[in-house]
Amino acid sequence: MYKYVINGGHVLRGSVAVSGFKNAADGILPAAIMCGEPLRIENIPCIRDVLLWFDIFREMGVSVKTLNAHAFEIDASSVYTGNPPFEHMRNMRASYYLLGAMLSRFGRALVSLPGGCDFGDRPIDQHIKAFEAMGATIEVKGGVITAETEDGKLHGAHIYFDVITVGGTINAMLGATLAEGTTVLENCAREPHIVDVANFLNSMGADIRGAGTNVIKIRGVKKLHSCSYAIIPDQIEAGTYMVFAAATGGDLTVTGVIPKHLESITVKLRETGVTVEEFDDAVRVTRTGKLRRANVKTQEYPGFPTDMQPQFAAMLCLADRTSTVTESIFDSRFKYTSELKRMGARIHVDGKVATIEPAGELTGAVVRACDLRAGAAMIVAGLVARGTTEIEDIVYVERGYEDIVGKLRAVGADISRVKVDPPAGALSAI
Ligand code: EPU
Repeated sequence: MYKYVINGGHVLRGSVAVSGFKNAADGILPAAIMCGEPLRIENIPCIRDVLLWFDIFREMGVSVKTLNAHAFEIDASSVYTGNPPFEHMRNMRASYYLLGAMLSRFGRALVSLPGGCDFGDRPIDQHIKAFEAMGATIEVKGGVITAETEDGKLHGAHIYFDVITVGGTINAMLGATLAEGTTVLENCAREPHIVDVANFLNSMGADIRGAGTNVIKIRGVKKLHSCSYAIIPDQIEAGTYMVFAAATGGDLTVTGVIPKHLESITVKLRETGVTVEEFDDAVRVTRTGKLRRANVKTQEYPGFPTDMQPQFAAMLCLADRTSTVTESIFDSRFKYTSELKRMGARIHVDGKVATIEPAGELTGAVVRACDLRAGAAMIVAGLVARGTTEIEDIVYVERGYEDIVGKLRAVGADISRVKVDPPAGALSAI
């Protein structure tokens, strides 16, 4: 087990390159097993979620050949459909995409109910509703989802999502790709990674139109073919480094990004008195003056992303006056605020709204990463706090941020990854 140790108070300066998008990789990797030919995927981030996918693949007979640190050849020509690795699946939310991928290619699937970050109840009823509309019979029993079709394939259908769901939209798109006939998905999520997954599927010969709008039309094709594809840059990793720069009063150029995907983050940072300059594939974030208050409300894309909410809340602890943060996507995404309070934050949560009063300054403490973005929020706080902050449970952070310690150290942060000694007596107690 490891923890991060941060000595706060260092201003971040320089440039940092963003990795491939975790949430796109989480859709593209399972989509790859829908193809019976080897294919090449580039710009895959080196994060724990990807390593978990590779573990799942190995156990399913999918071969993964390393081409370089971020490029892999994936060959699912002899994937097994029975006896799936439930243990690995339970460890990640995105394993639900195996349902769409396997149903699409084989007309049957067996997956475990997904794990992932705990933001309260995270149902997958919309995924199930879509597959049932496409003709699957689904049973959920003992934490396992069994999906079958009568004639070995899904059939095109007209599906209206009752809630806007990223995972549901991607999963239904996977299912419809090799279905017989045409599927129309309405009230779809429009996040950049939905477009990336659709572009990847289309590179393999799928016929998907409208991804990035709220209506997606998919004409089923008989099979997919080999391709070479590069994943888009990580919108949330980029946004997180923008907040690191803003919070520390730094001057950071975040490179390899798509500035359009960062607009809601850029606009909010400007509202707090931060300067953001946009270039073709980079943004430069500088702050010299005081950080101003803001009200932030999370929304579906192109609104402000829920995955940037904790990082912004941590930064707003330093603002001149009272701010509010409203979470409208998930029921319970404020657990991390009790950790921030240990560092002197003055946050009051009432339902979906957090009111953040100026803290003056934060002070180092021992805190934990409750989930992936909550961990990033702890890093924001640790970077600006007086003294030393120790962040435990960093396994969550490493699910989604590639080499965060190396990247932060290169721009001036004093952060290290330190092995945690087992508590005294722990070994003799075994
Ligand atoms: N929802 C339902 N029924 C469903 C599906 C979703 O009621 O069948 C509800 C959820 O409970 C939630 C809302 O709809 O209240 C939105 O959930 P969505 O399905 O969009 O989220 P997700 O697919 O589970 C993905 C990302 C999350 C990100 C959200 C929102 C992946 C693997 N996960 O989750 O990413 O927060 O979309 O943008 O892509 C992260 O990166 O830290 C992360 C948690």
